[in-house]
Amino acid sequence: MKITFLGHASFSIKIQDVNILVDPFITGNPLASKININTLKADYILVTHAHQDHMLDVEAIAKRTGAKVISNYEIVTHFGNLGIEGHPMNHGGKWDFEFGTVKYVNAIHTSSFPDGSYGGQPGGFVIEGEHKNIYIAGDTALTFDMKLIPMHTKLDLAILPIGDNFTMGIDDAIIASDFVECDKVLGCHFDTFGYIEIDHDTAKRKFFEKGKDLMLLNIGEFIEL
Ligand code: NI
Ligand code: MN
Repeated sequence: MKITFLGHASFSIKIQDVNILVDPFITGNPLASKININTLKADYILVTHAHQDHMLDVEAIAKRTGAKVISNYEIVTHFGNLGIEGHPMNHGGKWDFEFGTVKYVNAIHTSSFPDGSYGGQPGGFVIEGEHKNIYIAGDTALTFDMKLIPMHTKLDLAILPIGDNFTMGIDDAIIASDFVECDKVLGCHFDTFGYIEIDHDTAKRKFFEKGKDLMLLNIGEFIEL
């Protein structure tokens, strides 16, 4: 499993020959200007919730690639009305895709579309594929619901928001990694705009002091599990 950071909360995940994009917000992110959405590969696009900073580039990429959107029912319906194929889910449900299993899990946040209309409830994803298991928390507060995840899944990586203000900050993300029983954390949702700028060294040190590993990738950088 190869995971490439595309800035903010956007990732490209390759499982075998399948390309999965998560929350593509690239053309609206000046920090990600070197990423060209016209060259991104996508068979599936996972969308955690309806906020602009998670789905700005879904329409353009899905229309170019024919990628299928996996998200909550409301978001899949929204893109379905634009002629984009989708697979609707709701909290607690999982489905076997060609690349592995996806479960849509709880997140504490909001999820309106940019025009203010209802975007369903926000979520995160647990992906089990290629003998590796990852948790994409989406935008969320720390919540006890995270403790449900290791009851089913032994995680290899947790992708957690760490920018604070709109989501968990560092201290709560450390507790979240306890709740999901995964000490290997990839940070996201930081530095993109003023409210969520963080000090990288302080963040990494705080995780390190708890015996945990916080990875902060540069945009375009990848890790392999
Ligand atoms: Ni959000
Ligand atoms: Mn967000």
